[in-house]
Amino acid sequence: MKRLFFGLSPDQQASRQCLTIMKALSAQHYPVIPAANLHVTLLFLGAINAGQEAELMEKAAGIAFPRLTLKFDQLSYWPKPQVLCLIASATDSALQDLAARLKALAENLGIAVENRPYLPHVTLARKAKHPIAMTIEPVVWRAGQFCLFESVTTGNGVTYPKIRCWASQNA
Ligand code: 2AM
Repeated sequence: MKRLFFGLSPDQQASRQCLTIMKALSAQHYPVIPAANLHVTLLFLGAINAGQEAELMEKAAGIAFPRLTLKFDQLSYWPKPQVLCLIASATDSALQDLAARLKALAENLGIAVENRPYLPHVTLARKAKHPIAMTIEPVVWRAGQFCLFESVTTGNGVTYPKIRCWASQNA
C-alpha cells in the first residue's frame, strides 16, 4: 500500500514567494518545511493498493479542468495540527470544482475520503507552537496541471514524489 494524495505543485513564482515567507518564518525560529515539499493538497487519499492506484490514474486522465490561478493572501495558524499555512480569502470555484471531482472519483472507486469541506492551504511550517503576526505579499500560484503524489516517510522526514500529472486542456 502507498500513501497517496492528489495535489498541485508550485510554479516558479509561487515557489519563490513561499520561500521568501519561509525565510522570514525561519528567522523567527519556526520549523519550515523543505522547499521541495511545497504543495496544495486537492484530495488526501490515504493508503491505496496497486489496483486502486491504477484505477485512480485511469479515471483522473478523464478530468477536464481549466488553468488555475490561485491567490493565497493570508498566513494562518492552526493550533491543533500546529501548522502555519497560507490560505486564500476568496474561494476559487475552479479549484473547488477540481477537488470535488477528484473526491467523487475516489468515492466511486470505494475509497473512503474525509467529508470535511475542502479548505485549500499551503503548509509552510510544522510544529509551530505559536501564531505569528506578519504581513505577507499574496502568493500567486498558477497551475496548469494536477498530480498524484506519494507521501513517503524516511528517516530524514517526509518526501512527496510525483507519480503522474495531468495537464489542463488549455495549459
Ligand atoms: P497538511 O499540509 O495540512 O499537513 C500529504 O500528507 C498532504 O495531505 C499534506 O499536505 C497534508 O496536509 C494532506 N492531508 C490532508 N488530510 C490528511 C490526513 N488525514 N493525513 C495526512 N495528511 C493529510
